Amino acid sequence: MKLISASLRRFTLAVLTVLLVVSSFAIFTPSASAETFQVKLGSDKGMLAFEPKKLSVKPGDTIEWVNNKVPPHNVVFDAALNPAKSADLAKELSHKQLLMSPGQTQTTTIPADAPAGEYTFYCEPHRGAGMVGKLVVE
Ligand code: CU
Repeated sequence: MKLISASLRRFTLAVLTVLLVVSSFAIFTPSASAETFQVKLGSDKGMLAFEPKKLSVKPGDTIEWVNNKVPPHNVVFDAALNPAKSADLAKELSHKQLLMSPGQTQTTTIPADAPAGEYTFYCEPHRGAGMVGKLVVE
């Protein structure tokens, strides 16, 4: 009898633990709705372009920059062409380091307080060739 009540207590504890874990998931799930988008640096056909070159995101979303064809590439946000005209914000979003090998990645997470609007970014070595992209924060 003692054995049964001990195992029953253990079972109850296990159930409570599971309930706690499940309910904490339920609480934190809304923030997990942030999405990750991929942008290729250099198109699959070898064009000097971002693919896609225009992207809509929300604060909290992440962009994964994937080095692709015709490197080197980097991602620099224009200090003036963003809603806040903020050089600091542009710098925070940028990855100035040149990616030399296909498959290398960098990520940018849009800050929660990023102002809505259009952001322009470009690749420094290929800006003149038209490697420019737009990000719309909703
Ligand atoms: Cu480039």
